[in-house]
Amino acid sequence: MKQSLKLASALALSVVVLTSAACSRNPDAGTDPTSGDGSGTAAVADCTTPIKTFKLAFNQTEEHPQFQAALWFGEQLLEATDGCYGIEGFANETLGAQAAVLNNVSDGSVDMAYIGGPVMETMNPDTVVFNLPYVFDSKEAQDAVFSDEAVIGDLKHSMEGSKDITVLSLLYSGTRNVYATKAVRSPADMTGMKLRVQQSESQVAMIDNMGGIATPMAQGEVYSALQTGTLDGAENNETVYQSMKHDEVAPFYSYTKHLMIPDYLIMNTTALDGMGDEYKQALLDLVPATTKMANDGFVEYVDESIEISKTAGATFVEDVDTAAFKASVAPLIEQYVTNDVTQALYDAVQEANAAHPAS
Ligand code: GCU
Repeated sequence: MKQSLKLASALALSVVVLTSAACSRNPDAGTDPTSGDGSGTAAVADCTTPIKTFKLAFNQTEEHPQFQAALWFGEQLLEATDGCYGIEGFANETLGAQAAVLNNVSDGSVDMAYIGGPVMETMNPDTVVFNLPYVFDSKEAQDAVFSDEAVIGDLKHSMEGSKDITVLSLLYSGTRNVYATKAVRSPADMTGMKLRVQQSESQVAMIDNMGGIATPMAQGEVYSALQTGTLDGAENNETVYQSMKHDEVAPFYSYTKHLMIPDYLIMNTTALDGMGDEYKQALLDLVPATTKMANDGFVEYVDESIEISKTAGATFVEDVDTAAFKASVAPLIEQYVTNDVTQALYDAVQEANAAHPAS
Protein backbone atom coordinates (compact mmCIF):
# COMPACT_ATOMS: atom_id res chain seq x y z
CA MET A 1 0.00 0.00 0.00
CA LYS A 2 1.36 3.32 -1.03
CA GLN A 3 -0.16 5.40 1.72
CA SER A 4 2.56 6.33 4.10
CA LEU A 5 1.62 9.90 4.79
CA LYS A 6 1.95 9.92 8.52
CA LEU A 7 5.07 7.79 8.44
CA ALA A 8 6.66 10.35 6.21
CA SER A 9 5.94 12.99 8.79
CA ALA A 10 9.17 14.73 8.47
CA LEU A 11 9.84 17.85 10.23
CA ALA A 12 11.18 20.62 8.18
CA LEU A 13 13.13 23.10 10.15
CA SER A 14 13.62 26.41 8.51
CA VAL A 15 16.08 27.62 11.05
CA VAL A 16 19.53 28.59 10.02
CA VAL A 17 21.61 29.78 12.89
CA LEU A 18 22.94 33.18 12.10
CA THR A 19 26.07 33.13 14.19
CA SER A 20 26.84 36.78 13.91
CA ALA A 21 23.30 38.00 14.31
CA ALA A 22 22.33 40.36 17.06
CA CYS A 23 18.86 41.23 18.22
CA SER A 24 19.67 44.87 18.77
CA ARG A 25 16.52 46.00 16.92
CA ASN A 26 14.22 44.02 19.15
CA PRO A 27 12.35 46.43 21.35
CA ASP A 28 11.89 43.54 23.77
CA ALA A 29 15.60 42.81 23.93
CA GLY A 30 16.57 41.47 27.28
CA THR A 31 13.21 39.82 27.90
CA ASP A 32 12.27 36.32 26.89
CA PRO A 33 9.83 36.49 23.95
CA THR A 34 8.96 32.86 24.48
CA SER A 35 7.76 33.23 28.01
CA GLY A 36 4.45 31.48 28.36
CA ASP A 37 4.84 28.35 26.30
CA GLY A 38 8.50 27.48 26.52
CA SER A 39 8.51 25.72 23.14
CA GLY A 40 11.25 25.74 20.57
CA THR A 41 13.77 27.83 22.40
CA ALA A 42 17.50 27.73 22.05
CA ALA A 43 20.15 30.16 23.00
CA VAL A 44 21.90 31.85 20.13
CA ALA A 45 25.32 33.18 20.97
CA ASP A 46 25.02 36.70 19.63
CA CYS A 47 21.31 37.18 19.99
CA THR A 48 20.44 39.14 23.10
CA THR A 49 17.19 37.22 23.43
CA PRO A 50 16.66 33.48 23.04
CA ILE A 51 15.57 32.39 19.58
CA LYS A 52 11.90 31.54 19.22
CA THR A 53 10.89 28.95 16.69
CA PHE A 54 7.21 29.15 15.86
CA LYS A 55 5.59 25.75 15.33
CA LEU A 56 3.50 25.70 12.15
CA ALA A 57 1.03 22.85 11.63
CA PHE A 58 0.09 21.56 8.18
CA ASN A 59 -2.15 18.65 7.26
CA GLN A 60 -0.70 17.86 3.84
CA THR A 61 2.63 16.84 2.38
CA GLU A 62 5.91 18.72 2.42
CA GLU A 63 5.76 19.11 -1.37
CA HIS A 64 2.64 21.26 -1.11
CA PRO A 65 3.32 24.88 -2.16
CA GLN A 66 1.78 26.19 1.08
CA PHE A 67 4.31 24.22 3.07
CA GLN A 68 7.16 25.29 0.81
CA ALA A 69 6.06 28.91 1.16
CA ALA A 70 6.02 28.50 4.94
CA LEU A 71 9.62 27.32 4.88
CA TRP A 72 10.58 30.37 2.85
CA PHE A 73 8.62 32.52 5.30
CA GLY A 74 10.67 31.03 8.14
CA GLU A 75 13.99 31.66 6.43
CA GLN A 76 13.08 35.26 5.63
CA LEU A 77 11.78 35.82 9.13
CA LEU A 78 15.00 34.59 10.64
CA GLU A 79 16.92 37.02 8.51
CA ALA A 80 14.57 39.94 9.14
CA THR A 81 14.69 39.40 12.91
CA ASP A 82 18.43 38.96 13.19
CA GLY A 83 18.11 35.31 14.05
CA CYS A 84 15.57 35.76 16.83
CA TYR A 85 12.49 34.20 15.22
CA GLY A 86 12.10 31.23 12.91
CA ILE A 87 9.36 28.86 11.79
CA GLU A 88 9.40 25.11 12.09
CA GLY A 89 6.90 23.38 9.81
CA PHE A 90 5.24 20.09 10.69
CA ALA A 91 3.55 18.46 7.68
CA ASN A 92 1.25 15.44 7.31
CA GLU A 93 -0.95 16.15 10.36
CA THR A 94 2.02 15.47 12.66
CA LEU A 95 0.62 18.04 15.08
CA GLY A 96 -2.92 16.73 14.61
CA ALA A 97 -5.88 17.17 12.28
CA GLN A 98 -7.11 20.68 11.54
CA ALA A 99 -9.96 20.85 14.07
CA ALA A 100 -7.60 19.99 16.94
CA VAL A 101 -4.82 22.19 15.60
CA LEU A 102 -7.18 25.15 15.42
CA ASN A 103 -7.89 24.79 19.14
CA ASN A 104 -4.17 24.45 19.80
CA VAL A 105 -3.43 27.69 17.99
CA SER A 106 -6.13 29.27 20.09
CA ASP A 107 -4.62 27.99 23.35
CA GLY A 108 -1.10 28.83 22.18
CA SER A 109 0.37 25.32 22.20
CA VAL A 110 0.79 25.60 18.41
CA ASP A 111 1.86 28.98 17.04
CA MET A 112 0.80 28.90 13.41
CA ALA A 113 -1.24 26.76 11.01
CA TYR A 114 -2.93 26.54 7.66
CA ILE A 115 -6.60 25.79 8.27
CA GLY A 116 -9.32 25.07 5.70
CA GLY A 117 -12.16 27.58 5.53
CA PRO A 118 -14.96 25.33 6.84
CA VAL A 119 -13.00 24.42 9.97
CA MET A 120 -12.63 28.16 10.71
CA GLU A 121 -16.42 28.40 11.01
CA THR A 122 -16.14 26.97 14.54
CA MET A 123 -14.13 30.06 15.57
CA ASN A 124 -16.06 32.65 13.59
CA PRO A 125 -19.33 31.49 11.98
CA ASP A 126 -19.36 34.54 9.68
CA THR A 127 -16.48 33.03 7.67
CA VAL A 128 -19.07 30.64 6.24
CA VAL A 129 -19.74 33.06 3.36
CA PHE A 130 -16.49 32.08 1.61
CA ASN A 131 -17.34 28.39 2.04
CA LEU A 132 -20.67 28.48 0.26
CA PRO A 133 -20.92 26.48 -2.95
CA TYR A 134 -20.52 28.39 -6.21
CA VAL A 135 -20.06 31.68 -4.32
CA PHE A 136 -16.99 32.80 -6.30
CA ASP A 137 -17.30 32.99 -10.08
CA SER A 138 -13.54 33.01 -10.74
CA LYS A 139 -10.16 32.81 -9.08
CA GLU A 140 -9.67 36.47 -9.97
CA ALA A 141 -12.84 37.41 -8.09
CA GLN A 142 -11.62 35.50 -5.06
CA ASP A 143 -8.16 37.12 -5.30
CA ALA A 144 -9.79 40.55 -5.42
CA VAL A 145 -11.81 39.89 -2.26
CA PHE A 146 -8.95 38.32 -0.32
CA SER A 147 -6.54 41.12 -1.13
CA ASP A 148 -8.96 43.90 -0.19
CA GLU A 149 -8.32 44.87 3.43
CA ALA A 150 -11.46 47.01 3.41
CA VAL A 151 -13.44 43.80 2.92
CA ILE A 152 -11.54 41.25 4.99
CA GLY A 153 -9.60 43.41 7.48
CA ASP A 154 -12.18 43.11 10.26
CA LEU A 155 -12.56 39.40 9.71
CA LYS A 156 -8.78 38.89 10.03
CA HIS A 157 -8.81 40.49 13.47
CA SER A 158 -12.24 39.27 14.57
CA MET A 159 -10.95 36.31 16.60
CA GLU A 160 -8.15 38.06 18.45
CA GLY A 161 -10.06 39.04 21.58
CA SER A 162 -12.17 35.94 21.98
CA LYS A 163 -9.95 33.20 20.55
CA ASP A 164 -6.42 34.64 20.58
CA ILE A 165 -6.15 33.95 16.85
CA THR A 166 -4.94 36.37 14.19
CA VAL A 167 -5.60 35.59 10.54
CA LEU A 168 -2.47 36.47 8.58
CA SER A 169 -3.95 35.75 5.16
CA LEU A 170 -6.54 33.92 3.13
CA LEU A 171 -5.11 31.70 0.43
CA TYR A 172 -6.23 30.13 -2.83
CA SER A 173 -6.93 26.44 -2.53
CA GLY A 174 -8.26 25.58 -5.98
CA THR A 175 -11.69 24.37 -6.95
CA ARG A 176 -13.17 21.36 -5.28
CA ASN A 177 -14.86 18.58 -7.20
CA VAL A 178 -16.45 15.25 -6.35
CA TYR A 179 -14.45 12.05 -6.74
CA ALA A 180 -15.72 8.57 -6.22
CA THR A 181 -15.75 5.00 -7.35
CA LYS A 182 -18.00 6.08 -10.25
CA ALA A 183 -18.48 9.16 -12.42
CA VAL A 184 -20.85 11.82 -11.08
CA ARG A 185 -22.58 13.98 -13.70
CA SER A 186 -25.80 15.06 -12.00
CA PRO A 187 -27.37 15.25 -8.52
CA ALA A 188 -29.22 12.01 -9.29
CA ASP A 189 -25.86 10.21 -9.65
CA MET A 190 -25.07 11.06 -6.03
CA THR A 191 -28.14 9.37 -4.56
CA GLY A 192 -27.12 7.10 -1.68
CA MET A 193 -23.43 7.97 -1.97
CA LYS A 194 -21.50 8.62 1.23
CA LEU A 195 -19.11 11.48 0.61
CA ARG A 196 -16.56 12.91 2.97
CA VAL A 197 -16.78 16.63 3.73
CA GLN A 198 -14.77 18.94 5.93
CA GLN A 199 -15.95 19.25 9.51
CA SER A 200 -18.60 21.95 9.36
CA GLU A 201 -22.34 22.25 9.17
CA SER A 202 -22.27 24.21 5.93
CA GLN A 203 -20.36 21.44 4.16
CA VAL A 204 -22.80 18.81 5.37
CA ALA A 205 -25.73 20.89 4.14
CA MET A 206 -23.98 21.36 0.80
CA ILE A 207 -23.46 17.66 0.02
CA ASP A 208 -26.89 16.72 1.33
CA ASN A 209 -28.45 19.33 -1.00
CA MET A 210 -26.33 18.08 -3.89
CA GLY A 211 -27.92 14.65 -3.49
CA GLY A 212 -25.34 12.69 -1.48
CA ILE A 213 -24.92 11.71 2.15
CA ALA A 214 -22.33 13.89 3.87
CA THR A 215 -19.77 12.35 6.23
CA PRO A 216 -17.63 14.94 8.06
CA MET A 217 -14.12 13.63 8.64
CA ALA A 218 -10.53 14.81 9.04
CA GLN A 219 -8.52 14.66 5.84
CA GLY A 220 -6.00 12.12 7.14
CA GLU A 221 -8.72 9.50 7.61
CA VAL A 222 -10.15 9.69 4.11
CA TYR A 223 -7.85 7.25 2.32
CA SER A 224 -8.62 4.29 4.51
CA ALA A 225 -12.33 5.15 4.65
CA LEU A 226 -12.40 5.07 0.86
CA GLN A 227 -10.38 1.88 0.77
CA THR A 228 -12.63 0.05 3.20
CA GLY A 229 -15.83 1.30 1.58
CA THR A 230 -16.93 3.40 4.57
CA LEU A 231 -17.00 6.20 2.02
CA ASP A 232 -18.03 6.07 -1.64
CA GLY A 233 -16.20 9.27 -2.40
CA ALA A 234 -15.09 12.68 -1.26
CA GLU A 235 -14.70 16.18 -2.61
CA ASN A 236 -11.48 18.12 -2.87
CA ASN A 237 -9.06 19.80 -5.23
CA GLU A 238 -6.82 17.85 -7.61
CA THR A 239 -3.74 18.23 -5.41
CA VAL A 240 -5.25 16.37 -2.46
CA TYR A 241 -6.73 13.78 -4.83
CA GLN A 242 -3.26 13.02 -6.11
CA SER A 243 -0.94 13.65 -3.18
CA MET A 244 -3.06 11.76 -0.66
CA LYS A 245 -3.38 8.87 -3.17
CA HIS A 246 -7.17 9.09 -3.21
CA ASP A 247 -6.94 8.51 -6.96
CA GLU A 248 -6.00 4.88 -6.17
CA VAL A 249 -9.27 4.19 -4.37
CA ALA A 250 -11.72 6.61 -6.05
CA PRO A 251 -10.68 6.64 -9.70
CA PHE A 252 -13.34 9.03 -11.11
CA TYR A 253 -12.81 12.76 -10.58
CA SER A 254 -15.90 14.68 -11.75
CA TYR A 255 -15.79 18.44 -12.32
CA THR A 256 -18.75 19.58 -10.22
CA LYS A 257 -16.73 22.75 -9.47
CA HIS A 258 -18.91 23.32 -6.44
CA LEU A 259 -16.44 25.07 -4.17
CA MET A 260 -13.58 27.53 -4.18
CA ILE A 261 -12.85 27.89 -0.48
CA PRO A 262 -9.90 29.58 1.14
CA ASP A 263 -7.24 28.19 3.39
CA TYR A 264 -6.34 30.48 6.28
CA LEU A 265 -2.82 31.12 7.50
CA ILE A 266 -3.35 31.81 11.19
CA MET A 267 -1.20 32.64 14.19
CA ASN A 268 -1.66 32.78 17.92
CA THR A 269 -2.19 36.47 18.70
CA THR A 270 -0.24 36.43 21.95
CA ALA A 271 2.76 34.86 20.18
CA LEU A 272 2.54 37.49 17.44
CA ASP A 273 2.25 40.40 19.84
CA GLY A 274 5.00 38.93 22.00
CA MET A 275 7.47 39.65 19.22
CA GLY A 276 7.34 43.36 19.99
CA ASP A 277 6.25 45.95 17.47
CA GLU A 278 9.25 45.95 15.21
CA TYR A 279 9.68 42.22 14.78
CA LYS A 280 5.93 41.74 14.57
CA GLN A 281 5.90 44.20 11.69
CA ALA A 282 8.79 42.33 10.07
CA LEU A 283 6.70 39.16 10.19
CA LEU A 284 3.59 40.89 8.83
CA ASP A 285 5.62 42.43 6.01
CA LEU A 286 6.54 38.93 4.80
CA VAL A 287 2.95 37.69 4.64
CA PRO A 288 1.96 39.04 1.18
CA ALA A 289 4.98 37.47 -0.52
CA THR A 290 4.43 34.19 1.32
CA THR A 291 0.79 34.16 0.24
CA LYS A 292 1.67 34.93 -3.37
CA MET A 293 4.29 32.20 -3.43
CA ALA A 294 1.82 29.66 -2.07
CA ASN A 295 -0.95 30.75 -4.45
CA ASP A 296 1.24 30.78 -7.57
CA GLY A 297 2.71 27.44 -6.62
CA PHE A 298 -0.76 26.03 -6.09
CA VAL A 299 -1.82 26.75 -9.67
CA GLU A 300 1.17 24.83 -11.03
CA TYR A 301 0.67 22.05 -8.49
CA VAL A 302 -2.88 21.49 -9.78
CA ASP A 303 -1.61 20.89 -13.33
CA GLU A 304 1.12 18.54 -12.15
CA SER A 305 -1.34 16.67 -9.96
CA ILE A 306 -3.77 16.08 -12.84
CA GLU A 307 -1.00 14.58 -14.96
CA ILE A 308 0.18 12.31 -12.14
CA SER A 309 -3.35 11.09 -11.41
CA LYS A 310 -4.01 10.44 -15.10
CA THR A 311 -0.83 8.41 -15.34
CA ALA A 312 -1.98 6.46 -12.28
CA GLY A 313 -5.18 5.61 -14.19
CA ALA A 314 -7.70 8.15 -12.91
CA THR A 315 -10.48 9.44 -15.18
CA PHE A 316 -11.32 13.17 -15.17
CA VAL A 317 -14.97 13.73 -16.05
CA GLU A 318 -15.73 17.09 -17.66
CA ASP A 319 -19.34 16.72 -18.85
CA VAL A 320 -20.98 17.47 -15.52
CA ASP A 321 -24.32 19.26 -15.15
CA THR A 322 -22.96 22.05 -12.95
CA ALA A 323 -26.12 24.12 -13.47
CA ALA A 324 -28.17 21.40 -11.78
CA PHE A 325 -25.72 21.21 -8.88
CA LYS A 326 -25.72 24.98 -8.56
CA ALA A 327 -29.53 25.05 -8.42
CA SER A 328 -29.52 22.32 -5.77
CA VAL A 329 -27.44 24.40 -3.35
CA ALA A 330 -28.95 27.85 -4.05
CA PRO A 331 -31.03 27.78 -0.79
CA LEU A 332 -27.82 27.74 1.25
CA ILE A 333 -27.22 31.41 0.55
CA GLU A 334 -30.37 32.43 2.37
CA GLN A 335 -29.63 29.91 5.10
CA TYR A 336 -26.15 31.25 5.84
CA VAL A 337 -26.16 34.92 4.84
CA THR A 338 -28.12 36.03 7.85
CA ASN A 339 -26.58 39.11 9.44
CA ASP A 340 -24.91 42.40 8.52
CA VAL A 341 -21.41 40.92 8.50
CA THR A 342 -22.21 37.95 6.29
CA GLN A 343 -24.33 40.16 4.03
CA ALA A 344 -21.47 42.66 3.58
CA LEU A 345 -19.02 39.86 2.76
CA TYR A 346 -21.50 38.29 0.36
CA ASP A 347 -22.12 41.64 -1.36
CA ALA A 348 -18.38 42.19 -1.73
CA VAL A 349 -18.06 38.78 -3.37
CA GLN A 350 -20.88 39.64 -5.80
CA GLU A 351 -19.15 42.88 -6.70
CA ALA A 352 -15.91 41.03 -7.34
CA ASN A 353 -17.77 38.45 -9.42
CA ALA A 354 -19.22 41.24 -11.59
CA ALA A 355 -15.75 42.67 -12.13
CA HIS A 356 -14.16 39.25 -12.71
CA PRO A 357 -16.73 36.94 -14.31
CA ALA A 358 -16.03 33.30 -15.08
CA SER A 359 -13.99 32.94 -18.25
C1 GCU B 1 -7.70 21.15 1.09
C2 GCU B 1 -7.36 22.33 1.91
C3 GCU B 1 -7.06 21.93 3.33
C4 GCU B 1 -8.16 21.08 3.86
C5 GCU B 1 -8.45 19.93 2.98
C6 GCU B 1 -9.60 19.09 3.48
O1 GCU B 1 -6.59 20.41 0.94
O2 GCU B 1 -6.25 22.98 1.36
O3 GCU B 1 -6.89 23.03 4.15
O4 GCU B 1 -7.83 20.58 5.10
O5 GCU B 1 -8.70 20.37 1.70
O6 GCU B 1 -10.48 18.79 2.71
O7 GCU B 1 -9.62 18.76 4.65
